[in-house]
Amino acid sequence: MTPNLKVSIAGVEFATPIMTASGCCGYGEELAAIFPMSKLGALVTKSVTLNPREGHPPPRTAETASGMLNAIGLANVGVDRFITEKIPFLEKQKTKVIVNVAGSKLEEYVEVCSRLNDIERVDMIELNISCPNVNEGGMEFGSDPAMTEKSVAAVKKVFSRPLIAKLSPNVTSITTIAQAAQQGGADAFSVINSLVGTSIDTDTWRPRLTNNKGGLTGPAIKPVALAMVNAVYEKCSLPIIGIGGIATAEDVVEFMLCGATAVQVGTSLFVRPDAPVIIADGLKEYLRKKKLSSACELIGKVRKY
Ligand SMILES: Cc1cc2nc3c(=O)[nH]c(=O)nc-3n(C[C@H](O)[C@H](O)[C@H](O)COP(=O)(O)O)c2cc1C
Repeated sequence: MTPNLKVSIAGVEFATPIMTASGCCGYGEELAAIFPMSKLGALVTKSVTLNPREGHPPPRTAETASGMLNAIGLANVGVDRFITEKIPFLEKQKTKVIVNVAGSKLEEYVEVCSRLNDIERVDMIELNISCPNVNEGGMEFGSDPAMTEKSVAAVKKVFSRPLIAKLSPNVTSITTIAQAAQQGGADAFSVINSLVGTSIDTDTWRPRLTNNKGGLTGPAIKPVALAMVNAVYEKCSLPIIGIGGIATAEDVVEFMLCGATAVQVGTSLFVRPDAPVIIADGLKEYLRKKKLSSACELIGKVRKY
């Protein structure tokens, strides 16, 4: 018996629970040269904003113990070029497409999402209300429950397909923010974005990033992400996409046991661009060994003490 990797979130069906994470594979073109996109559950794009953004000057990434720091500053082509230059490529790919949207004002989020509503290839939007690397916007929207609810509700009015709220770990209570997003009409959560961190060069006494601080990602954040996925799973009723340091099939199993329906792979793509394919094969093997017929049987089944 071949185990079934299919999962569904808010009525959208994914061939496997393994997606790419925003910002770690651009708009998919480079990855498609390495493996067929049909092997992915979904491709999640780099955050798209209303206007093109240059981002921060280099250096904007630095390696840390078991992870990395980045302060890219949401560099992207902007929604107009995204639609004219990137959508034609995405139209041809046999995978689900989730477009991550960011903004510095509520009106910008609404404008971008309303333009994307006309593009059928966009299966879902993931709202980045959690970016720690920009001076205005991003995290401001996702660290205040009232603002979170308002932002989600405003976007729901202009985008007719499912909306995922991507939550920040840099808050006092992630479950309060999750509940606010649910109240605003979100259809699912992505948990988590990067943790604020810094790193200092002891020769120059300067931070290793020009932005002075950045977002910590990779295996270093996995235990934090697992605890947050489980906390949101216990307090809310929406499906969760787990993110944070996933590098192996066993990592995916941990996230699914804690309550995730699907997962995203980010920093691991910098180590092995074909990591999502290797991880999906490993997950199938794990299910076979455990005599499970479907990945869904793992969701929320952690046996707590
Ligand atoms: C270089 C880099 C750029 C990123 N850019 C974005 C982005 O544009 N939008 C976003 O929502 N998250 C962005 N992220 C966060 C990832 O999507 C993900 O939430 C985070 O890296 C944790 O997953 P990981 O530990 O598997 O990398 C970025 C992460 C990295 C490493």
